[in-house]
Amino acid sequence: MKILLLGAGGREHALAWKLAQSKQTEKIYVTSGANAGLLEVCEEIGIKALEGAKLAEFAKENKVGLVVIGPEAPLCAGVAEELRKSGLAVVGPDLKGSRLEGSKIFAKKFMRKYGIPTADFRIFSDPALAKDYVSSIGGRCVVKADGLAAGKGVFVCFSEKEALEAVKATLEDKEFGAAGSEILIEEFLEGEEASILALTDGKTIVPLESAQDHKRVFDNDRGPNTGGMGAYSPAPVVTEEILETVRRDILLPTLKGIREEGMDYRGVIYAGLMIGPKGVNVLEYNVRFGDPETQAVLPRLKNDLAEVFQAVEQGRLGDVRLEWDERAAVCVIMAAPGYPGKYPKGLPITGLEEARALPDTYVFQAGTVRSGGELLTNGGRVLGVTALGATIGEACRAAYEGVGKISFPDAHYRRDIAYRALKNRK
Ligand SMILES: Nc1ncnc2c1ncn2[C@@H]1O[C@H](COP(=O)(O)OP(=O)(O)O)[C@@H](O)[C@H]1O
Ligand SMILES: [Mg+2]
Repeated sequence: MKILLLGAGGREHALAWKLAQSKQTEKIYVTSGANAGLLEVCEEIGIKALEGAKLAEFAKENKVGLVVIGPEAPLCAGVAEELRKSGLAVVGPDLKGSRLEGSKIFAKKFMRKYGIPTADFRIFSDPALAKDYVSSIGGRCVVKADGLAAGKGVFVCFSEKEALEAVKATLEDKEFGAAGSEILIEEFLEGEEASILALTDGKTIVPLESAQDHKRVFDNDRGPNTGGMGAYSPAPVVTEEILETVRRDILLPTLKGIREEGMDYRGVIYAGLMIGPKGVNVLEYNVRFGDPETQAVLPRLKNDLAEVFQAVEQGRLGDVRLEWDERAAVCVIMAAPGYPGKYPKGLPITGLEEARALPDTYVFQAGTVRSGGELLTNGGRVLGVTALGATIGEACRAAYEGVGKISFPDAHYRRDIAYRALKNRK
């Protein structure tokens, strides 16, 4: 079977790496902009992930048996739906399903309707009303732009001043354009975060192993938010008991909502959780694999991913039993100096082969390009080094051993990935 993969980053490299191991996979095509790691396993087709009509034409002409969509942008633009309409087999939700990520207000209303636990919220489009509300609750809250904002549209506010500034940035200064013309103001929830990714074919919903990522750029969760600086799986905060709660109170009602709303949802649903004194609450949905959670979760999956995806697409997920490597996985992201702000490109990378040669160590490329014989940086997040180990501590040591083999000028990475999991264990 020929597969077409949409996307260009680290998550997609992990997906391609796993799909390439399947006996079913004859060839993997990938959309434009693919990093050097992807190009080792895929053939680039020179069509962008958002060009639905061209992709459909290409996929039909080349007898593509399965389309896998990595990022949210094409999903929220309706590309899955468009490809399916031309008869292709696609893993990814339709436009309506993708609204669970594309509109935070839509997602909140969905959660309220189907009784899924989530922080209390109010919706505003008038800045004066939003400011009055913020002042009335004393400032501590979370302000969220409604639409896609590349992880920058959420303001966790600790004072009235911060909350008023967040309202100004979104509703008055229009920093997120139309994505911020409506906002949510949410109750602040205490606790520890974790991610549950699940597969669904619209009939069955099956959680993958838990994971947790690190969003802040510096150690001890300081500095600005990034796309993610590392991840580990499993997340010890997700105990058997919590997983049972997640299944009963979150995943099953989510599936019920998907069905009752008439979504064609065949793909991944990701619930960002806050686990704390108020129980297990959903912070947000994503409608695709997380990056870098995928780089920590997929190396633990024993199943043939191409077969699993086919089952999702054909509505046979109920027949699939996922099997997991008992070992833990830790992924450390190596980023360009300055990321998530301005950063240079074209820095030469060395030592990748040495890292890869270590046992149970995988290097997933994110922002890389090959030029001449050389591997160069080509993005903010450059590489993700994942290692497996008997415990999270061992996986962590192994991942950092891999990181230690690789260098490029002023490479930045956090030294404390998985610290929460290690602390919990003690
Ligand atoms: N209600 C809330 N209470 C406390 N923290 C929150 C809340 N909502 C979001 N956050 C924090 O903000 C981060 C980003 O919010 P999220 O809803 O996941 O949006 P996005 O990932 O699209 O930026 C979360 O990972 C969490 O740390
Ligand atoms: Mg999030």
